[in-house]
Amino acid sequence: MAMRRIDDLSSLKWQRKNWVGRVGFVPTMGALHAGHLELVHVARSMTDHVVVSIFVNPTQFNDPKDLAKYPRTLEQDLALLESYQVDTVLLPSSDWMYPQGFQTWVEVLEVPRAYEGAHRPGHFRGVTTVVAKLLNLVQADAMFLGQKDAQQVATLQRMVYDLNFPTQIKVVPTMREADGVALSSRNRFLSVAERQQAPVLYRSLMSTAELYRTGERDAQRLREHALTLLQSSAIGTVEYFDVVSLPDFLPVHQADERPILLVSTLLLGKVRLLDNLVLPLELNTVEGLTHAWTLG
Ligand code: PAF
Repeated sequence: MAMRRIDDLSSLKWQRKNWVGRVGFVPTMGALHAGHLELVHVARSMTDHVVVSIFVNPTQFNDPKDLAKYPRTLEQDLALLESYQVDTVLLPSSDWMYPQGFQTWVEVLEVPRAYEGAHRPGHFRGVTTVVAKLLNLVQADAMFLGQKDAQQVATLQRMVYDLNFPTQIKVVPTMREADGVALSSRNRFLSVAERQQAPVLYRSLMSTAELYRTGERDAQRLREHALTLLQSSAIGTVEYFDVVSLPDFLPVHQADERPILLVSTLLLGKVRLLDNLVLPLELNTVEGLTHAWTLG
């Protein structure tokens, strides 16, 4: 069946009634790359009716310049989604998501406080609010999120759990370039020199994973190991590297718990490269990651 495109709220309400079987939902801001398509592929394999939303959510950008320059590639995105046999694509307008007089926010307090939350004030409040609205509209059985935005996954997991959304979150492993760089819509803004430096982030995560595999559990020593490698990048600035627990995203002193997450952000020029790794490495499958991020 041809992909349905919905861009008004009234039509979503009546079309929703015709969706058959388990509904899988992939929220996106467009500028789709292989990482998003992997989410769609996993959703296709696990659910019956796949819905993808494309909405560049203004409330999650703390810098208006970032919002203005966010890549918008709608026609190409739609063609890709059609070729991945998506059933329905939602294209909400800003008026639809944030009607006149809008004043209701959904905010998780602790999980998004540090790391990305500290560097991007208000970002996670925008994410949780828009995703809560989308979930209310789509009423999905499962929502598919990428591991790359690990704190986003942990925050949305907390929201879904605390507010009793009937949606299960499935976490899909990060897709990478051949040299290990995690796919991201922002990679296109790296200069040639910055792109050459970018693999240092993944290399430092993998090298720290190797130290962990050989028995090191002291978080301070794991951190120092990674920082030494990261600081060898000639032009990057490390914003943070830490060892956190899952699913609550709190820093740990001893990495004895299972699983743990290495999280890091490297600033290359104006681009913030995020990456993370769940340890032990054998948990890096949809089942392993989904279980690692599950509350309760
Ligand atoms: O990860 C993203 O692209 C966005 O934060 C999301 C989940 C689509 C909400 O706008």
